[in-house]
Amino acid sequence: MASSSLLVHRVCYIALFFTLCFAADPFVNFELEYSYITASPLGVPQQVVAVNGKFPGPILNVTTNYNVVVDVKNKLDEDLLVTWSGIQMRRTSWQDGVLGTNCPIPKGGWNFTYQFQVKDQIGSFFYAPSVNMQRAAGGFGSFIVTNRNIIPIPFSPPDGDIVIIIGDWYTRSHKTLRKDLDDGKQLGMPDGVLINGKGPYRYNTTLVPDGIDHETINVDPGKTYRVRVHNVGVSTCLNFRIQNHNLLLVETEGYYTSQQNYTSVDIHVGQSYTFLVTMDQNASSDYYIVASSRFVNQTIWQKVTGVGILHYSNSKGKAAGPLPDPPNDVYDTSYALNQAMSIRQNVSASGARPNPQGSFHYGQINVTDFYLLKSVPPVSIDGKLRATFNGISFKNPVTPIRLADLYYVKGDYKLDFPTKPMNRPPKVDTSIINATYKGFIEIVLQNNDTVVQSFHMDGYSFFVVGMGFGEWTENNRGSYNRWDAISRSTTQVFPGGWTAVLVSLDNVGVWNLRAENLDRWYLGQETYMRIINPEDHSNKTEMPVPDNALYCGALASMQKQQKVSSATTTLFGSSELFFTLLLVLSAVISLVS
Ligand SMILES: *[C@@H]1O[C@H](CO)[C@@H](O)[C@H](O)[C@H]1NC(C)=O
Ligand SMILES: *[C@@H]1O[C@H](CO)[C@@H](O)[C@H](O)[C@H]1NC(C)=O
Ligand SMILES: *[C@@H]1O[C@H](CO)[C@@H](O)[C@H](O)[C@H]1NC(C)=O
Ligand SMILES: *[C@@H]1O[C@H](CO)[C@@H](O)[C@H](O)[C@H]1NC(C)=O
Ligand SMILES: *[C@@H]1O[C@H](CO)[C@@H](O)[C@H](O)[C@H]1NC(C)=O
Ligand SMILES: *[C@@H]1O[C@H](CO)[C@@H](O)[C@H](O)[C@H]1NC(C)=O
Ligand SMILES: *[C@@H]1O[C@H](CO)[C@@H](O)[C@H](O)[C@H]1NC(C)=O
Ligand SMILES: *[C@@H]1O[C@H](CO)[C@@H](O)[C@H](O)[C@H]1NC(C)=O
Ligand SMILES: *[C@@H]1O[C@H](CO)[C@@H](O)[C@H](O)[C@H]1NC(C)=O
Ligand SMILES: *[C@@H]1O[C@H](CO)[C@@H](O)[C@H](O)[C@H]1NC(C)=O
Ligand SMILES: *[C@@H]1O[C@H](CO)[C@@H](O)[C@H](O)[C@H]1NC(C)=O
Repeated sequence: MASSSLLVHRVCYIALFFTLCFAADPFVNFELEYSYITASPLGVPQQVVAVNGKFPGPILNVTTNYNVVVDVKNKLDEDLLVTWSGIQMRRTSWQDGVLGTNCPIPKGGWNFTYQFQVKDQIGSFFYAPSVNMQRAAGGFGSFIVTNRNIIPIPFSPPDGDIVIIIGDWYTRSHKTLRKDLDDGKQLGMPDGVLINGKGPYRYNTTLVPDGIDHETINVDPGKTYRVRVHNVGVSTCLNFRIQNHNLLLVETEGYYTSQQNYTSVDIHVGQSYTFLVTMDQNASSDYYIVASSRFVNQTIWQKVTGVGILHYSNSKGKAAGPLPDPPNDVYDTSYALNQAMSIRQNVSASGARPNPQGSFHYGQINVTDFYLLKSVPPVSIDGKLRATFNGISFKNPVTPIRLADLYYVKGDYKLDFPTKPMNRPPKVDTSIINATYKGFIEIVLQNNDTVVQSFHMDGYSFFVVGMGFGEWTENNRGSYNRWDAISRSTTQVFPGGWTAVLVSLDNVGVWNLRAENLDRWYLGQETYMRIINPEDHSNKTEMPVPDNALYCGALASMQKQQKVSSATTTLFGSSELFFTLLLVLSAVISLVS
């Protein structure tokens, strides 16, 4: 009796492990080789980070629930890590690709194969390097998760799928930008804005020099396209618009929105949006696609404007004349805020699963923990320019946090991140948040910095329930959207203002919180939430350390010189083993029922 129940238990365990982790879902493999190329997006030759020789990198286009295997090869001359912005890798921060969770992939041709499942996700995301400010030099690309065929989407299938990657751009290399920050300088105004890795169309011969290659998007009249736009830039919020065309917003960072037309949308650093754009104009000429800098003085920042071309197959001529106007709200801060809060979730649409995505009534759940994270302009700490949250400028741990836990490395980090601003001098520390698994938390981001900030959380989406100007007070809770707030992974926080988000801490791991503004992030404006299930002793709520994990820091001696191992292929490439598992699984099901 005892032994047979033990057997059932073990079989269940194995079956559960495989259904949860890998199930019968297909595997898809990608190889991303990072190397330098020379490109001149703004007319000046410079070193750019290419992926498989391309800038921007290739689109990774997968389907919900796929097991994604990405072999990243580092042919740069410095360490590399790649992170998957907005992908909620369940139970495995081992694959997140930031320094608190992963050892960097050493230079000189080393590789690391990431493996994770895009479980119950749909939508538009991107990948990018997370270390050494490399994102300022490229290495990014779109990451699309399409719905399974059986799940309806809340709009007619579009006639095409178009990716537009926008971002501010410097002609200085990422190494020079890094040095500038290390020397205590600000980065200053970018040299331009790129659209799909290309400089502006020459819409004005004074402002745009000759000989710059621009992006052209080719379309057919009468058709409707799904246009996915990602801002992967360094620090500039960009206003995105297409001359004479409405942008019907349908999705952002994995959630379907209540569909609304916009003439332009502010896209903050690290944010992704999908618009449906109908080619309903008469094609008397081509149309401008514009991404112009926001919340800065337009007169001074005029050249920080990306311009591409929308070309109908029946177009009668080139685009000419002035660009479509940006929002005229220099003296009206509420315009941008109202637009942000107008982006709401379509609570009756299906997301990745057949049940409506809004059926989770977040507005009725009691908040268990409260965090107020305050940012201020960069400060000098021990003679170095640093950026902070609550007076802590984050220093990466010597050993990634969960590896340190697993091998009992002492003193690697502290669990004492202050839950509110402290009245004490700022300091540099490896201090992280001791968060409670299954907590439902409220985070208020208070931006006392002078620039608009993008706040991002890895492994999660949060509900953006409120935004305002001035100091947040408890009274502001009365204004929260408790019904159809958008759920996303990156939100803006306006200077002199606050943003409130609610998050359900249901994903075990150690997850990065950061300013997506690359300069602030580099200067230490980040931390982690350590979310551990104290009752899990069997790897059910968190995956075990992957076989191919890289070791560094206090565990560096465990790292072998890289040799080819084929653990993944032998385990899962075997259909025999797979069918054995299926048999085991059905046996378990029949035992249980
Ligand atoms: C490097 O790539 C090989 C196959 O290309 C793979 O077997 C190996 O696990 C990878 N190394 C790491 C650390 O992921
Ligand atoms: C919300 O989704 C439903 C279901 O797909 C769809 O019929 C409806 O048009 C959508 N509503 C809005 C406002 O986007
Ligand atoms: C992604 O894949 C889907 C389904 O295969 C396809 O419809 C879509 O056009 C693809 N998108 C891009 C940008 O390649
Ligand atoms: C080009 O830009 C300059 C500087 O803003 C402006 O003075 C000029 O009128 C523009 N030229 C045209 C043809 O719009
Ligand atoms: C959005 O604008 C298009 C025209 O570009 C129009 O056909 C459509 O009905 C509008 N949709 C909504 C939801 O306003
Ligand atoms: C095409 O549309 C533009 C803008 O709506 C309009 O000014 C122009 O007269 C139209 N041209 C033709 C040939 O219909
Ligand atoms: C923008 O800069 C120009 C030139 O320096 C200046 O004249 C103008 O007053 C500034 N505008 C605002 C709104 O600050
Ligand atoms: C939330 O807290 C209130 C008061 O503490 C309590 O009455 C209510 O039952 C709680 N709601 C839920 C859903 O737990
Ligand atoms: C972290 O929080 C848990 C309870 O949520 C508590 O038991 C533990 O002592 C805390 N650890 C530290 C170092 O504060
Ligand atoms: C920062 O805080 C100080 C003091 O509360 C306030 O005077 C100042 O206006 C704030 N600045 C911003 C940009 O929030
Ligand atoms: C869980 O995974 C760890 C490695 O991360 C391993 O040491 C441990 O034995 C596993 N526990 C069980 C019950 O399988």
